[in-house]
Amino acid sequence: MTNLFKSIPVRSSEITSKKAYFSRRDFMKAATIATSAALLTACAPSVTELPQNAEPVPTSNATDELGNPVNTYDDIIGYNNYYEFSTNKEAVAPLSKNFTTAPWTVEVGGLVNKPKTFGMEDLLKLFSQEERIYRLRCVEAWSMVIPWTGFSLASLLKMVEPTSAAKYVRFETVYRPEEMKGQGSPLYPWPYQEGLRLDEAMNELTILATGIYGEAILPQNGAPIRLVVPWKYGFKSIKSIVKIELTSERPNTLWNTIGSNEYGFYANVNPEVDHPRWSQASERRIGELSRRPTEKFNGYGEQVAHLYDGMDLTLQY
Ligand code: MTE
Repeated sequence: MTNLFKSIPVRSSEITSKKAYFSRRDFMKAATIATSAALLTACAPSVTELPQNAEPVPTSNATDELGNPVNTYDDIIGYNNYYEFSTNKEAVAPLSKNFTTAPWTVEVGGLVNKPKTFGMEDLLKLFSQEERIYRLRCVEAWSMVIPWTGFSLASLLKMVEPTSAAKYVRFETVYRPEEMKGQGSPLYPWPYQEGLRLDEAMNELTILATGIYGEAILPQNGAPIRLVVPWKYGFKSIKSIVKIELTSERPNTLWNTIGSNEYGFYANVNPEVDHPRWSQASERRIGELSRRPTEKFNGYGEQVAHLYDGMDLTLQY
């Protein structure tokens, strides 16, 4: 199996304190620790000369396992889908700038033996942060390659011990309409919810992301913690999670509730099954001029195709 994972020694202090993390000295220190541990080679962010007091913009020559270069930090933090803030991709970053991401807790419960509410600091201490360079394919037919830092969802779920009755995992985004103006829109059933089958949630590719380019994740990308499921359309990768619940029934999801014929529960990337209003055969990689063909399971078939043995995926849009 292709090695998609790299351990990255991101210290919780650097993730929780954005100010400290962004200070140039700490950033250099972190990069040195990473390289000296010989764990971060291709992905080591290079730091260019900066004017006094400027925040360093990380850059990288890293690629995914197929050789695709990672998108620039500016692309990743400047072009976002986050309907709680805006439906305009360029407006999400400025509108989410002052979103409160600390203190933050994630309640994990439902059909588990050991329900627990974790503070963000606990999550960063309990689970070592790894770098995962994943392709993100939006259902709207654009894509990016993103160097996440985070930890496997499986490690968190194992800690709370799902009971034998647990078959699905339900995720919920924070509901805070006073800070998220989009949640005032009656067009959507807030809060944003998503769901996975338990075996999908336990797959080693499924992560909870807390960083991008080794920096603490910013509000527009789902701070302080969001799901990343790289073989599914991007809408499954729910942002700013406050609740994870193990259930016996398949959970409702926001997009499936609004339009079940357009946004399936499974939503596995599939170039052979078009969205009712557009083709899914190709995609626009942000930063590139020509379109590229879309890969089944977004190129992660080796790791996940077995989860759907015997299922008719054309019916599982
Ligand atoms: N999560 C919440 N809570 N709200 C959203 O609007 N948009 C989804 C997903 N997670 C969304 C969300 C969609 S459609 C995509 S493509 C990805 O987030 C985009 O993630 P990015 O902005 O970090 O690239």
